[in-house]
Amino acid sequence: DESQKAGYSHYMLKEIHEQPRVIQNTLINMPLPESFNKSEILEQSRKTGILFLACGSSYHAALTARYLVEEHLNIPVRLEIASEFNYMHRLLPCKLAVVLTQSGETADVLRAMRRLKQAGCMVVAITNVAGSTAARLADHTIYTQAGPEIGVAATKSFIAQLIVLYALCFAGASAANIRYQDYLSTMRLLPSVVQSILGSHQNIKDAAVEVAKSKSAFFIGRGINYPIALEGALKLKEISYIHAEGYAAGELKHGPFALLSPETPVLALVSRDQTYEAMLTGLREIKVRRAPLIVIGEAGDEQLGQLADRVISLPSFNRLFNPILFTVVLQLLAYYVALELGCSIDTPRNLAKSVTVE
Ligand code: G6P
Repeated sequence: DESQKAGYSHYMLKEIHEQPRVIQNTLINMPLPESFNKSEILEQSRKTGILFLACGSSYHAALTARYLVEEHLNIPVRLEIASEFNYMHRLLPCKLAVVLTQSGETADVLRAMRRLKQAGCMVVAITNVAGSTAARLADHTIYTQAGPEIGVAATKSFIAQLIVLYALCFAGASAANIRYQDYLSTMRLLPSVVQSILGSHQNIKDAAVEVAKSKSAFFIGRGINYPIALEGALKLKEISYIHAEGYAAGELKHGPFALLSPETPVLALVSRDQTYEAMLTGLREIKVRRAPLIVIGEAGDEQLGQLADRVISLPSFNRLFNPILFTVVLQLLAYYVALELGCSIDTPRNLAKSVTVE
């Protein structure tokens, strides 16, 4: 067991550090933009929209896909948690469904797939496991190239899902807009940018020591960073057992504000995009309520230092990819909180890597 961890104290840490290679492998094995543009899949989805289905971390990847697909491909997206979808009575008008499942064995996802296929819907699976039930049930399968993931909390498989979704989306958009070819090229730099976060993250460890003292924390983001806030909160609760809630930053004032106090840290994901001003307004309101504010933002954003108790800066890079970089920061943060608390990081209590019952 120790030898397989390659010198890391936990599989989770090893798997976090494998991500630069995972990104590279996943990109190399993606369908080429040209072949993708011609594909039946994109044509179908332009007509009827796309239904995304998943559970857990894979659901957060699917929620990220919704922002990507609607913004860059201008295709309407419907998104459901697979277990809830199975209680919904109206399947149509979707003719194309994309399921995301690392294991390819999550019972709720498989049940939804069978139901969709019976209704004549084309089903695409994005999965990490060749020969899994999802891969066999799907009409088309796209593989994430994360390799076997041992840590129960998804890390590299989630990043690989994001990479597939970005690449598919940009490949699809490149037919209409040449700019997307550049974005696809820019993606090839992601492994080295992620590596730079992994190579120097003392500030994340310091933040983790603070967060480890609390009983509850909020993770907030807007737009495409909202799903990443959900994923950051999920990572923290899975492995450190600290209660954490991921929230759309604009929703915090509709209830959760009542819970803010000096004992409740708020971790905010801030991109200098169209969400920026509204994020800053929200952060000021949080400060007034004396909650410790840890902001993860872009390099060189001077305003953040005036507002936050602690700022963690991303490396300078195209901000389109901030969700991927925020994810890596939040994985490390959750890891070091759990380490500080002495938790069973690779095998958290009550959780299974793959849930094969409904
Ligand atoms: C379990 C795992 C999670 C995972 C979820 C969905 O709950 O502990 O890490 O996100 O299942 O799994 P899937 O294999 O369908 O992506």
